[in-house]
Amino acid sequence: MFAISLGDDGAELTPLEPWQAEELLDHMDRGREFIGAHVGLPDIVTDLDSARSYLQGYADKAARDAGRLYAIRVDGKLVGGVMFRIFDTESELAEAGCWVEPGYAGRGLVTRACRVILDWAIEERGIHRVEWHVSSANAPSIAVARRLGMSRDGVMRQSYPYRGERADMEVWSVLAPEWRAAKAA
Ligand SMILES: CC(C)(COP(=O)(O)OP(=O)(O)OC[C@H]1O[C@@H](n2cnc3c(N)ncnc32)[C@H](O)[C@@H]1OP(=O)(O)O)[C@@H](O)C(=O)NCCC(=O)NCCS
Repeated sequence: MFAISLGDDGAELTPLEPWQAEELLDHMDRGREFIGAHVGLPDIVTDLDSARSYLQGYADKAARDAGRLYAIRVDGKLVGGVMFRIFDTESELAEAGCWVEPGYAGRGLVTRACRVILDWAIEERGIHRVEWHVSSANAPSIAVARRLGMSRDGVMRQSYPYRGERADMEVWSVLAPEWRAAKAA
């Protein structure tokens, strides 16, 4: 599999495609509780069929240039993912997301992977604004947004019903000129 190196610790960014559904399911089973604390991905990827259809959904989005999904691997093992849930070159807007399995959190893997895909979106694809939607209770994800140089646009109060409660969802974003200024600094 071809890959982009994310550093000297064996971390790589690679494609993640429907034929890798079994690998995605195994990975999700290792991190189901941790990953699902604030996001519904583990409730979507529950068996081989649902894993395949999740990946096929992103393959279809990629074919329409409407989204992207990539794997984070360490020494070849699937340990997380980054995606553009929304990718709209007409309005020059994208929404990024991410996850990592618990044994691989706290190493900067997600921040490093996001930097690669945000840079591609902004510099190569003309995206002007990249958004990050995150529950106010999800401190590690808010920390990623901060590390990516994002600003907090606002809060959509109690907008996300999840596991019997309504979460406040924050919208964070970085604009192309801000991204470039941070890179130059
Ligand atoms: C949100 C989530 C992806 C954040 O994962 P993470 O591992 O904390 O994020 P990063 O990969 O950016 O790693 C950051 C940590 O690595 C450290 N780090 C080490 N090397 C680093 C590097 N080269 N670059 C950046 N950070 C580095 C940072 O200091 C930070 O440590 P800290 O947590 O002690 O402050 C993770 O908590 C997760 O998967 N949660 C469940 C799914 C989810 O909520 N997704 C987000 C939906 S909005």
